[in-house]
Amino acid sequence: MREWVNQAIARIEADFQRSSDTHLIQVELPALPNVDFYLKDESTHPSGSLKHRLARSLFLYGLCNGFITEGTPIIESSSGSTAVSEAYFAKLLGLRFIAVMPRATSKEKIEQIRFYQGECHLVDNGDIYGEARRLAKEMDGHYIDQFTNAERVTDWRGNNNIADSIFAQMSSERFPEPEWIVVSAGTGGTSATLGRYLRYRKHRTQLCVADPENSVFFDYYKTGDESITIRQGSNVEGIGRPRVEPSFIATVIDHMIKVPDEASFATIHFLQRLLNRQCGGSTGTNVYAAFQLMAQMHHRGQSASVVSLLCDGGERYQHTYYNDNWLSQNGYDLTAYTNRLDAFYHSGEFPVVL
Ligand SMILES: Cc1ncc(COP(=O)(O)O)c(C=O)c1O
Repeated sequence: MREWVNQAIARIEADFQRSSDTHLIQVELPALPNVDFYLKDESTHPSGSLKHRLARSLFLYGLCNGFITEGTPIIESSSGSTAVSEAYFAKLLGLRFIAVMPRATSKEKIEQIRFYQGECHLVDNGDIYGEARRLAKEMDGHYIDQFTNAERVTDWRGNNNIADSIFAQMSSERFPEPEWIVVSAGTGGTSATLGRYLRYRKHRTQLCVADPENSVFFDYYKTGDESITIRQGSNVEGIGRPRVEPSFIATVIDHMIKVPDEASFATIHFLQRLLNRQCGGSTGTNVYAAFQLMAQMHHRGQSASVVSLLCDGGERYQHTYYNDNWLSQNGYDLTAYTNRLDAFYHSGEFPVVL
């Protein structure tokens, strides 16, 4: 048994060894000559999103705890991207993988999970967590449980984590210590790693978390009420949760911004014109919040940098955010936010009233 675990860990380490770091892209915004903006491009991981880091850590944690051994079926509750990355690692280790997901998950993500030989167990509007737990018990499998474990599986003190990588890549820039790092939260694992690292390394950098419309994280951050729940799931895939997840650590966050879904979608279309590439919806949420902070800094005459994340690419959302019919059928009109973003691009100011 130990021999199989040793080999499994070696296989994951070798996968890591074959990968290079993700790029930190500088985004040109001529109207803000003294506020530099960077996007860490997490879409270039082998399984296509920032969740590659989390999936690697979750598998290593499961293996080193003795939860995963030869032949253990792996079960997860996921809104999509995590399951794609976990299916990738399960395939690497020759393990069966089953993702319990909302039925509304994009067709492209389901296809990608299946591409890595993962199985999809779609739930109508029920409890994906309970169903994943039930399946794991029934199959004598391991519920890998990102929503509990995301905050603890990553070595937040460094060891090549996302925070370590950002600071190393910023070291030759004119403002190497960012004023803000802006991310969004699904599990909250990324924000927990960044927030702890910023404190541990005594950086001045502040952490801002952007939250989409249908999510309780913002209200929980403001009120401290852990019991808040909502019925409707988030329309920005991968981020925003209907309950306060155990892996969401509010105390490491310096500021939160609520971002309307139309603003997130308008921002990815704006980014397509700016970067000549497509990003996923959560990148729009991050960037819209980052632009607001940058406009304030510009207004105050500050000279500084801001870093945010490009979480995944747009290829997973061709039938949704990049489809005009889908946008109008779901009642989204991006015009007002597109005008706002254009005004920001040309003036560096963010119009206050929409
Ligand atoms: C596309 C995308 N962006 C952002 C996130 C948020 O990351 P985290 O789970 O670390 O909070 C997720 C998580 O599922 C995601 O899938």
